[in-house]
Amino acid sequence: MNRPRRATLVWTRRVGPNVYHQRFSDSLIARRAKAGQFVHLLPGSDHLFRRALSVYATDPRAETFDVLHQVLGAGTRCLAHQPIGTVIDTLGPLGNSFTPPARGTTPVLVGGGLGMAPLRLWAAELMAARSTRRGKPVAPIMILGVRTRELAVAPYQLRTLHVHPHWATDDGSLGFHGTAVDLFADMLRRNDWGPGHAMVYGCGPEPMMKALAELCIAQQVPCEVSLERSMPCGYGVCMGCVVTSRGASGYETYRRVCRDGPVFDAAAIVF
Ligand SMILES: Cc1cc2nc3c(=O)[nH]c(=O)nc-3n(C[C@H](O)[C@H](O)[C@H](O)COP(=O)(O)OP(=O)(O)OC[C@H]3O[C@@H](n4cnc5c(N)ncnc54)[C@H](O)[C@@H]3O)c2cc1C
Ligand code: FES
Repeated sequence: MNRPRRATLVWTRRVGPNVYHQRFSDSLIARRAKAGQFVHLLPGSDHLFRRALSVYATDPRAETFDVLHQVLGAGTRCLAHQPIGTVIDTLGPLGNSFTPPARGTTPVLVGGGLGMAPLRLWAAELMAARSTRRGKPVAPIMILGVRTRELAVAPYQLRTLHVHPHWATDDGSLGFHGTAVDLFADMLRRNDWGPGHAMVYGCGPEPMMKALAELCIAQQVPCEVSLERSMPCGYGVCMGCVVTSRGASGYETYRRVCRDGPVFDAAAIVF
């Protein structure tokens, strides 16, 4: 998987303030990428380092994969403005993926900002598995938090999956007034999502992942979080992306987000 690939930019859509949805053509990533995994893209020939972006959607038949990203600095700006047909030097799919929930438990997906990207692919995989599962179908619950309603991007992408997210906004302009974790805490109180009933999957800014982990540990709800770190190499050799993790014995060790993650058991991370 570590050999660079040549992914071709199919189209770019601006879907929110500074937020871009891009489709690339690459048969291997389209066929193999699993929710939680990411691609490492070289934004342009004048860039030295690749940038990590979660796989947002795949279409194995059309041999395409999508990313959803926010322009933060030079790399994502360059990528967002590449002309259609540009061939992008790409590594992937990289990293691990989310663990399926135990049979009968409700998967609860909690995203903050662009943390919705890997969760959208996870919702698609869970919905596909749900239609073939025997017994009572269990659909994922999706909780998404953004600062304000203009940042509630790509709901159309969720509608096609028949997943209807519960929105939370910091300013109360859409849905629940508060963070996605506040909304999840509120829903936990009102639903029977205690131990053995739900499995939580989170992706978003690190303070949010910390709050989500603490809540889930306190409520004894299993939780996986997808973490972000700057990633110089992206495949485990530079140690530039480490996080501290704690084993069952309490012993602390370093884990590489690119290789051992980006998805981790929330209880094992020292935030
Ligand atoms: C596994 C993984 C998956 C990711 N998936 C997505 C995604 O789906 N969509 C998306 O928009 N972004 C995602 N990111 C974050 C994305 O990689 C960074 O936003 C990007 O590298 C910034 O590059 P830049 O050149 O535009 O900005 P830079 O000039 O490198 O940085 C601009 C600003 O962004 C901050 N920054 C840089 N890298 C990160 C990071 N990894 N996390 C948080 N802040 C950062 C810097 O501190 C700086 O303040 C992901 C990161 C990882 C590690
Ligand atoms: S980015 Fe180099 S080890 Fe993770």
